[in-house]
Amino acid sequence: MKKFVIAVSVILSLCGAGMADEGTDLYKKCATCHGVHGEKSALGKSKIIKDMGVAGIMNALKGYKDGTYGGAMKGMMKAQAAPLSDAQITAIAAHIAK
Ligand code: HEC
Repeated sequence: MKKFVIAVSVILSLCGAGMADEGTDLYKKCATCHGVHGEKSALGKSKIIKDMGVAGIMNALKGYKDGTYGGAMKGMMKAQAAPLSDAQITAIAAHIAK
């Protein structure tokens, strides 16, 4: 399985679809609440995520996953962050913060 994942990511990067494009794809489902460029406060509750920086976004998403981060509506973000792998979180953060 691990070899398969590595092979797929090598093929993707050879096709020019690197991390940034994976992030673009993964971010699509976030845009409803956070805005196409991460420029909105989700439901009037979240920070403007594009201003959080790569490290800040990664910290928040990993924290939502393991329950160590968040405010009143963290349950909503836990559902968003739970299925993401560390590599996907890195790709998403790079996409949002750029
Ligand atoms: C259904 C609406 C919704 C969707 C979809 C959603 N979010 Fe959120 N997000 C929120 C809300 C509401 C908060 C504030 C939660 C809290 O109280 O901690 C938040 C918080 C965040 C934060 C931390 C901001 C802060 O205030 O500390 C980040 C980073 C974030 N979301 C990224 C994402 C990413 C990446 C995705 C897609 C995988 C996503 N969100 C999808 C509603 C959403």
